[in-house]
Amino acid sequence: MRILAFAAVKGGVGKTTAAVNVATAAALSGLRAVVWDLDPQAAACHLTGVEPVTQPPPRAGLFRRQTHHGAVRTSIDGLSVIPADTTFDSGSTLVHSRQLARIVAAEHGNYELLVLDLPAGVDSAVTSVVGVGAEVVVPIVPSMLAVRSFDQFVDFVDRDPKADTRVRGFFSMVDPMLARHAAFVDDLRAGRRDILSTWIPETVEIERACEKRQPVAIAFPGGRSAAAFSRLWRELSRS
Ligand SMILES: Nc1ncnc2c1ncn2[C@@H]1O[C@H](COP(=O)(O)OP(=O)(O)OP(=O)(O)O)[C@@H](O)[C@H]1O
Ligand SMILES: [Mg+2]
Repeated sequence: MRILAFAAVKGGVGKTTAAVNVATAAALSGLRAVVWDLDPQAAACHLTGVEPVTQPPPRAGLFRRQTHHGAVRTSIDGLSVIPADTTFDSGSTLVHSRQLARIVAAEHGNYELLVLDLPAGVDSAVTSVVGVGAEVVVPIVPSMLAVRSFDQFVDFVDRDPKADTRVRGFFSMVDPMLARHAAFVDDLRAGRRDILSTWIPETVEIERACEKRQPVAIAFPGGRSAAAFSRLWRELSRS
């Protein structure tokens, strides 16, 4: 099972949108894919029409953090979601590394692709997903400071000598009509191998799909956003 973790220092840059839409592209290509919503904001649940968990898990108390509620099938063939748990008061619902490893092992035979949707930030959550062999994918908005933040993220992951992890970025929310964006994206990509060549345009479709609680390939099949996420998945799956 391949594991892709969508993460970033910055919030609101398109992690969840990419996680859900890349997983959808994989499912539509015939793979068994599951998105694990690790953010108590439960946005990946929202985008897939799945309800988050709002009650404590069946095993209460000390063991509460040692379980998850299991995957839920979505209306899309081949796409499941492990719902976010919004019952914790603070922090992410991300379990400790060992628990994450146990859950990943349990799901291993069930899916060909596990997509993790992380909350913003660099912390133990990122270390945990790296520990289970996830490849990390980081959306970068087209600005110099966002690229700087991506570099800081890469440095954070590289600090763990045990981690042989690939961190790759892609440009997100690119306005193709803004010459400044287009030039910036082209310049930066040219010099770097850790930034993918696919970029995701800023589109109204993406906001509308969010209102409909559907991935873009379902809400707007054949649209430019669905095509961009399909390209992103193909590029990620090629290497
Ligand atoms: N390419 C895009 N075009 C237009 N709107 C977008 C695009 N990508 C994301 N959005 C919108 O921007 C908002 C933030 O996106 P998203 O929730 O995916 O970011 P995030 O990085 O997961 O945020 P958070 O850090 O809160 O988890 C959402 O309302 C989403 O619909
Ligand atoms: Mg998110």
